[in-house]
Amino acid sequence: MLTVKGLDVAYGRAQVLFGVDLAAPAGALVCVMGRNGVGKTTLLKAITGVLPVRAGQILFNGQDITKLKTHQRVRLGLGYVPQGHETFPQLTVWENLQVAVEAAGGAADRGAVDEALDLFPALPALLRRRAGFLSGGQQQQLAIARALVTRPKMLLLDEPTEGIQPSIILEIEEAVERLHTQAGLAILLVEQYLDLALRLADRFVILDAGEVVRSGDREELRDSSVHQLLSV
Ligand SMILES: Nc1ncnc2c1ncn2[C@@H]1O[C@H](COP(=O)(O)OP(=O)(O)O)[C@@H](O)[C@H]1O
Ligand SMILES: [Mg+2]
Repeated sequence: MLTVKGLDVAYGRAQVLFGVDLAAPAGALVCVMGRNGVGKTTLLKAITGVLPVRAGQILFNGQDITKLKTHQRVRLGLGYVPQGHETFPQLTVWENLQVAVEAAGGAADRGAVDEALDLFPALPALLRRRAGFLSGGQQQQLAIARALVTRPKMLLLDEPTEGIQPSIILEIEEAVERLHTQAGLAILLVEQYLDLALRLADRFVILDAGEVVRSGDREELRDSSVHQLLSV
């Protein structure tokens, strides 16, 4: 479904990704792991078109999307939840969802909003509350729901559990699990917690200093050399 080949990405003169290869098959949950600053967020931004690439290719369902604008990639079925969730704090939960519906240019429908809300039992009661007054975990749930109203074929999640209280981490984990196993959504998940990755991931890649240094299936995540690549 998603294939990344030989991706180089730089901020000005500072190159951050070096020849990154990645394959995320339809329906699979692939975990992108690695210490802080290795380039995980940069990779997701390049896949969604927020950052340009210096070299390499991004294919989505066989189509070369390397040069497409972000909104075109969204229309093709890429949903993106950025790190730190970036909801509109002044808008209510409902309005945040409507912005996504409008941005999709009619591609989203009321049914998709209801389905997204179904995933997070806490959200329906908060629809009239401004997003800025929600807890970090609730905002993360809103950000995921917002990405779902366009009915993506693949969801990119950048550290959805970062800095969030344990009870809500569990709700988010359950939601991701449901999207994966019940809805059959392909998911690219950036996640620092190894135990969570071990529960959810079909496959994983580990980045170190902008390069893929390990990849494999869930069982290989148990290898002790993997732990070394993730420990600080
Ligand atoms: N806007 C930016 N300008 C310059 N360098 C950046 C910028 N954003 C991130 N970086 C650098 O790129 C590297 C990778 O960052 P990032 O992709 O955010 O890592 P991760 O998500 O794995 O923590 C880091 O060295 C970081 O300092
Ligand atoms: Mg990051």
